[in-house]
Amino acid sequence: MNVLAFSASNSRKSINKLLVTYASSLLEHYTVEVLDINDYEMPIYSSDLEEMHGIPNAASRFLNKIAEADALLISFAEHNGNYTVAFKNLFDWASRKNMEVYQSKPIVLLSTSPGPGGASSVLRLATESAHFFKGNVLAFLSIPSFYDNFDLEKGELTNLELLSQLKAAVATIENK
Ligand SMILES: Cc1cc2nc3c(=O)[nH]c(=O)nc-3n(C[C@H](O)[C@H](O)[C@H](O)COP(=O)(O)O)c2cc1C
Repeated sequence: MNVLAFSASNSRKSINKLLVTYASSLLEHYTVEVLDINDYEMPIYSSDLEEMHGIPNAASRFLNKIAEADALLISFAEHNGNYTVAFKNLFDWASRKNMEVYQSKPIVLLSTSPGPGGASSVLRLATESAHFFKGNVLAFLSIPSFYDNFDLEKGELTNLELLSQLKAAVATIENK
């Protein structure tokens, strides 16, 4: 059984990547692949480009990664209350190949930001729209004030209440 984990951010220093990597380490019975969306970079979606050149191969490679996984663990970065452009672009291209981007996979959705909101706006957006793309949301959790609650040196969550919520969210994958 394997889980595909990724941060919906193209930042090389992504705090959502730190979070999702840590969250995936809490899975005991799954192997985890942490994907980097930078490996699926494509031009900004345009219907003109699609008509002229078709859908870039990276969209299919991304969809294949999802197809191979038994479950998904995604942590969303928030830019102005919304998805990062990098993730939205990847998602838009992928949806042109297959509207059912999440392919009926069970998903745990996370988010974090340095502020007290914890990227909860984009998390809500991702959670509420997942079913349109055949995502089966098992759990979702926002981690606020990332730098106050996560030890960068140890690479782990230090806030015990949030840790227990994260463990419960991740456990939904093992208990499904
Ligand atoms: C253009 C831009 C817009 C942002 N908008 C928000 C926002 O709406 N809410 C929020 O909590 N943080 C916002 N941030 C701060 C991000 O949460 C912060 O950069 C975080 O590190 C992004 O996650 P990542 O490190 O995983 O890429 C914004 C940052 C940028 C560059």
